[in-house]
Amino acid sequence: MLKITFLSHSCFLLSDGNFNLIIDPFITGNPTSPINKDDVKVEFIALTHAHGDHLGDAVELSKKTDATIICVNELGVFLDEIGVKNHKMHIGGGYNFPFGRLKFTIAHHGSSTPDGRYMGEPAGVVINMGGKTIYHTGDTGLFLDMKLIGELNKIDCMMLPIGDNFTMGIDDAVIAVDFVNPELAIPMHYSTFEVINADPDEFLTKCKMIKKHAKVMQFGETIEL
Ligand code: NI
Ligand code: MN
Repeated sequence: MLKITFLSHSCFLLSDGNFNLIIDPFITGNPTSPINKDDVKVEFIALTHAHGDHLGDAVELSKKTDATIICVNELGVFLDEIGVKNHKMHIGGGYNFPFGRLKFTIAHHGSSTPDGRYMGEPAGVVINMGGKTIYHTGDTGLFLDMKLIGELNKIDCMMLPIGDNFTMGIDDAVIAVDFVNPELAIPMHYSTFEVINADPDEFLTKCKMIKKHAKVMQFGETIEL
């Protein structure tokens, strides 16, 4: 059993009943966040990259709850400098955590802290938890190797950006769903700010045209896989 809660933008909370993992906890300063950062109780935080809308409240959450931040090496070295507990990994590598396995995948994007420091490569994550497999692409453009991710993993749920401008827009995201062939696709990274406004129902309609199952999660909604 895996419960997935969409906290808007690229932030998802995963829970198998024993462990709680939050991905890209952008809560404070996120105009669409349905929660307050004080509501978050997690043991693990996964970061796809260091941009402010993904790093978000991770540092404070980790310090407050003693959660381990899982991230690529360069970002982990930065976290060491500021005394934040982390587990460093890199693209192509997986590790068996208490909650399950997490593997970093490529993403075509950038990664720097809000003050401009280079933070290594951006990434996506494939997570096995609660008997399910999810693929959160992170911020990325469309890339053909997504086909390989779909071939190597039976993805139960794929979370992918549709907001355009910084990432895939709707049409490229629909192709990404075709490449990965997940049981369920959930759009993210849209309508948080005006520049990434997008209509998730258009994504749904276009997925339906290629016979792929997608769902628009409301901000704060929880589903169980
Ligand atoms: Ni970004
Ligand atoms: Mn972003």
